[in-house]
Amino acid sequence: MRTFKTLALGAALAAVASASDVEVLTKDTFPDFVKENDLVLAEFYAPWCGHCKALAPEYEEAATTLKEKNIKLAKVDCTEEADLCQSFGVEGYPTLKVFRGPENISPYSGARKSPAIVSYMTKQSLPAVSLLTKDTLEDFKTQDKVVVVAYFEADDKASNTTFSTVAEKLRDNYLFGASSDAALAKAEDVSVPSVVLYKSFDEGKSVFTQTFDVEAIEKFAKTASIPLIGEVGPETYADYMAAGIPLAYIFAETPEERETLSASFKSIAEKHRGAISFATIDAKSFGAHAGNLNLKADQFPAFAIQDTVNNKKYPFDQEAELTEAAISKFVEEFVAGDVEPSIKSEPIPEKQEGPVQIIVAKNYDDIVLDDTKDVLVEFYAPWCGHCKALAPKYDILAGLYVDAGLTDKVTIAKVDATANDVPDEIQGFPTIKLFKAGDKKNPVTYSGSRSIEDLIKFIKESGKHEAEVTYVEEEAAEAEKPIVESMAEQAAAATEAAKSAGEEATEAVKSKASEVSEAAPAETHDEL
Ligand SMILES: *[C@@H]1O[C@H](CO)[C@@H](O)[C@H](O)[C@H]1NC(C)=O
Repeated sequence: MRTFKTLALGAALAAVASASDVEVLTKDTFPDFVKENDLVLAEFYAPWCGHCKALAPEYEEAATTLKEKNIKLAKVDCTEEADLCQSFGVEGYPTLKVFRGPENISPYSGARKSPAIVSYMTKQSLPAVSLLTKDTLEDFKTQDKVVVVAYFEADDKASNTTFSTVAEKLRDNYLFGASSDAALAKAEDVSVPSVVLYKSFDEGKSVFTQTFDVEAIEKFAKTASIPLIGEVGPETYADYMAAGIPLAYIFAETPEERETLSASFKSIAEKHRGAISFATIDAKSFGAHAGNLNLKADQFPAFAIQDTVNNKKYPFDQEAELTEAAISKFVEEFVAGDVEPSIKSEPIPEKQEGPVQIIVAKNYDDIVLDDTKDVLVEFYAPWCGHCKALAPKYDILAGLYVDAGLTDKVTIAKVDATANDVPDEIQGFPTIKLFKAGDKKNPVTYSGSRSIEDLIKFIKESGKHEAEVTYVEEEAAEAEKPIVESMAEQAAAATEAAKSAGEEATEAVKSKASEVSEAAPAETHDEL
């Protein structure tokens, strides 16, 4: 009986073990494994690492898919195999490396999702250019979202070489194929030489018919492979911001709805291609980003255009339906400069109660840009601890100017910069600036200590009126730290907070920046 039980248990364990197609390697098994397998992706990980845990199911799935292509996925636990990991220069977790034999090692530079791993490794497994025939072309077209195929004559060495050069250069990005079968080119309806980029989206293919040239083909591949309507996410957001043209967001909660809306806005996107980027965004995961565009963050689908250069926001009326006609009209008006940017603002206070003037976006110009006064502005956030600590002192400071009858010369004001769009770029909270009378274009940012005396001195020295009040110190010497120091403190506090989140922090600190940001969406869901 006992034997039977043990056997059954053993079988169950074996079943569990064999359920994984990821090979577990140690310092003893690693060298032979990469010698015996032509192409291996190896993950160096630590069991405690959150990004590794997130990768694990994706990695398993990819291993199973790639098994039939004879591409092996392996993993090494670096807490067990420290020397092995060190010998490959592993500095953060997870680190992924591609092995073509023991000597030829390159970093894995794809995304950490199963389809991306499969796509990347498939590309690695093929020669830079796959030779295609009428029997293999159709299948090749479906191997990836984008494949690039050249057609040229068999004796056209120049085109062959040029195309191969592009393929070698971009082999991590696209699959490349080529054919010198004249009949095949004819069947595909292209002249020779030419390059066809087949894609699983938009118009299905783009054709390059200019003279073969490495740079020109490279540029063609890069532009033709971008979807007309892409997707905003943590991996693409920075590119959209850097593109230098406005970005039109299509917020929707389901993939189906995003697809439907994309289809109906396609011709609008086509018309403005190169002038406005169009992209969908998953409102379930990134709905909070709608708030940054001055949309209500709980009412979808929604549409907004962001002027990425001046950070102006143009939300489309959320009560109106997202029809092609309405969006087309809105985009046309935007292009013509006929849409007013939306400005987020708290209501203008009916009455300024205290000595500190309350600024909101709507009265910003009236108060801050009042040319007759030196205006000291504190940009704060409600959650910022240093702002709260400053508040009583700031009140006293403002009171001194009121008591001295100097309110016609000096205004002490503050604005909640999280609830109001302000033109200033605010790097941290609190930020304090003096807008000098007669010179509002060049505010001076305060960098001294947050003591009442020093602020008084700053207002006198940087202001036009050189107004001065005296402050009789009671027992307020507390917490007079220079701002620079307190920023260091804030950073330390942030690190502290991260630490308390467990080893996750170590991992983030260790990982390279790109990896951290790539893996970030799971943790910082709502911030792109
Ligand atoms: C390109 O040149 C290589 C090397 O000469 C050759 O093997 C290959 O067949 C050529 N490609 C095509 C499509 O003819």
